[in-house]
Amino acid sequence: MIIDCRNLEKKYTADNKLVTAVDNVSLSVEEGEFVVILGHSGSGKTTLLSLIGGLTVPDSGGVQINGVDNWGQSDDDLSDMRNRTIGFIFQFASLIPTLTALENILLPLSFGASPKGRYEDALEILELVGLKDKTNSFPSQLSGGQQRRIAIARAFINKPDIILADEPTGDLDEETERDILDLFREYNGRGTTFVVVTHNIHLARTQKNARVLQMRQGVLTEEKKEEAVDKQTETVG
Ligand SMILES: Nc1ncnc2c1ncn2[C@@H]1O[C@H](COP(=O)(O)OP(=O)(O)OP(=O)(O)O)[C@@H](O)[C@H]1O
Ligand SMILES: [Mg+2]
Repeated sequence: MIIDCRNLEKKYTADNKLVTAVDNVSLSVEEGEFVVILGHSGSGKTTLLSLIGGLTVPDSGGVQINGVDNWGQSDDDLSDMRNRTIGFIFQFASLIPTLTALENILLPLSFGASPKGRYEDALEILELVGLKDKTNSFPSQLSGGQQRRIAIARAFINKPDIILADEPTGDLDEETERDILDLFREYNGRGTTFVVVTHNIHLARTQKNARVLQMRQGVLTEEKKEEAVDKQTETVG
């Protein structure tokens, strides 16, 4: 088991109101699985991903990555685990504006003691996401979708065991979305584990081998793929 979440709970207070963003969530993911979590806006998807990745501390419950408790280790060890094991694709493009596309992709290699990726890998990934001609462009010179593709490329540079992707195809057209999902499938075929959160039913439909879960008001439930997809269709319309 590569990811093991036990009874995760995370509450927020805003405007004097208490919101249970993640409500007693337990989730086990085996190595090489492709997990899609579907849920409406505000259902707790981003919060859950950030708990899994050790970026947010839960109020209660715990997460083990490869058998090691995220918060049972020092901050340095947690950062190191994150850098070695996880590639994050954040919901909102998170590129460094003063670095070029290539430099942004290479950035994770400058953290941690023994990066697995190399300069040549960055060029290869740039090609895979279809942006080789933008190698030396700055984020401000790229479209939203291009910035997102650079952020996706960056998540893969260090050859992570796990990709945590938050609405990864949010602002991409259908064709580019297909290319990105093909890229995910290829890495998944090579053994990379994926947890993708989205409200995009299409994404769950097209990943044939995906295990689909539903998040509703912080509660995670596992359903048969067609059921999950149909329910979303019903409510989203
Ligand atoms: N830092 C915060 N402070 C207060 N409330 C928060 C905070 N982060 C999240 N929330 C609340 O927790 C709930 C879950 O938020 P979350 O961002 O996890 O949802 P989401 O499923 O990712 O939504 P979306 O699809 O819109 O991205 C929401 O009600 C949100 O308002
Ligand atoms: Mg979100």
